[in-house]
Amino acid sequence: MTTVLYVEPRRKIGKRDPKIFGHFIEHFHRQIYGGIYQPGSILANEAGFRKDVIQALRDIKASIIRWPGGCFASSYHWKDGVGKDRVPTYDKAWRVEEPNTFGTDEFIEFCRQVGAEPYICTNAGTGTPEEMSEWVEYCNLKTEGKWAKKRIANGNEEPFNVKYWSIGNENYGTWEMGAKEAREWGRFVLEAAKMMKRVDPAIEILAASIPDLDWNIHLLKEAGDFLDWISIHKYWDETWFTNDLSNYETCMVYTLSIEEPIIKAKHILGALGYLGKIRIAFDEWNLRGWYHPNVFHFENVPAEECAKARDANDLNASYTMADAVFSACFLNQCLKHCQIVGMANFAPAVNTRGAIFTHDRGLILRPAYHVFKLYTNYLGDEVVDSWTPERNSFTVAYKGKSYKIPSLDLIPTISNNGKELRIAIVNRHPDKAAKLKINTGSFKDPNHIKLYSVWGKSKDSFNDLDKPEEVTITEHCLNNISRDDLQIEVHPHSVNVLVLW
Ligand code: AHR
Repeated sequence: MTTVLYVEPRRKIGKRDPKIFGHFIEHFHRQIYGGIYQPGSILANEAGFRKDVIQALRDIKASIIRWPGGCFASSYHWKDGVGKDRVPTYDKAWRVEEPNTFGTDEFIEFCRQVGAEPYICTNAGTGTPEEMSEWVEYCNLKTEGKWAKKRIANGNEEPFNVKYWSIGNENYGTWEMGAKEAREWGRFVLEAAKMMKRVDPAIEILAASIPDLDWNIHLLKEAGDFLDWISIHKYWDETWFTNDLSNYETCMVYTLSIEEPIIKAKHILGALGYLGKIRIAFDEWNLRGWYHPNVFHFENVPAEECAKARDANDLNASYTMADAVFSACFLNQCLKHCQIVGMANFAPAVNTRGAIFTHDRGLILRPAYHVFKLYTNYLGDEVVDSWTPERNSFTVAYKGKSYKIPSLDLIPTISNNGKELRIAIVNRHPDKAAKLKINTGSFKDPNHIKLYSVWGKSKDSFNDLDKPEEVTITEHCLNNISRDDLQIEVHPHSVNVLVLW
């Protein structure tokens, strides 16, 4: 059956915030050291950053980068990472030594070279509201006080003007250093936000949250008036301790539950009177949970063994069209809910389960990377309304239940003041192409239609050293398109953008 899509470009859903194409980088395994930061490498610039990583992030218009964690942040003291003599510290989150050679100044410079907004996640675990506010002083005050003067002494005359600051990471979780109860969390966030905004009222503050009413009642009742965002996280394939990655079909089942945390968080904000005042930052998301066994439990496993186990994240064969199709479905939900979701950060950007893999001679751009490149370069910035009377679907059995999954996931957008229609077309079906008939109203010129696709021969296709472009973006010039009914066909397990102008 051919799916019919009716697009109504005059009914505008909203403008998407470019921060939904954001990224996250943590002091974990090879994300920083051996990832973006490799002083002395022939591939690094004078600042020690990998030039190819910077270019790759620029090519996907990385809009904002969150740092330094993640669990790492909850026992990180930022003052250890500034100034001339950096003393190594012990990272209790990941049970490794932190050299502190990559700190605030290096992070800001990295963001500048990428062209991304810096976003700092502060330590609400072992840190204090005063320490957080002093970080804001260091970054954003011109000369006033001790910490601005410290920044100047460290070689940065001008303030960094960091706009986005998160209070805490996942302090709701017992795995987190300095985990807190809902009630104490609200008061803590209030005290921290109060001090941080007194240093720089122009900053936007996020706070660690979960789509849970009790947690947010306390958080928003106490600190809601100081917050601009609530931060939520989710990894769907829970491979933290097993690395037993779900297959393509199961990952398609996961795509059915992407919207759920967004809807729950939105309803909670509405119930507590903060819709329109506080937005959602999905500031850690990925299909796959990172693999780090034996960390949150206290088995008697030597720290070196724990660290070594994390090398399993580096297997590029793990990241297939399932990651690409899932990532596109996630971004489609951010576009669909662009009025409330204003930021999303792929976790992480580099290595681990990231879109970019570094090796000592270059990069492997994994399938999800090409989805970011497709969406940031070919989709429009305004989401418009559409509907489909009925959709093809396929069924997947998962944990004793049967899931009916629509093959096509569609989001129409416009750009250039409505002169261009750019439709995201994801075909989740593992092995069947999908036919789509599009009723686009005025966009009928058969000479002005192009289809860009991220696709691999197999649903399990991946990029690696011996085949770096098995999955990439391909361009299809469409022919035989009649003026009246625009019909196209898209590959199975593919992510596409159709451009009409
Ligand atoms: O698995 C990595 C961790 O996932 C991040 O450090 C944390 O923020 C999230 O729980």
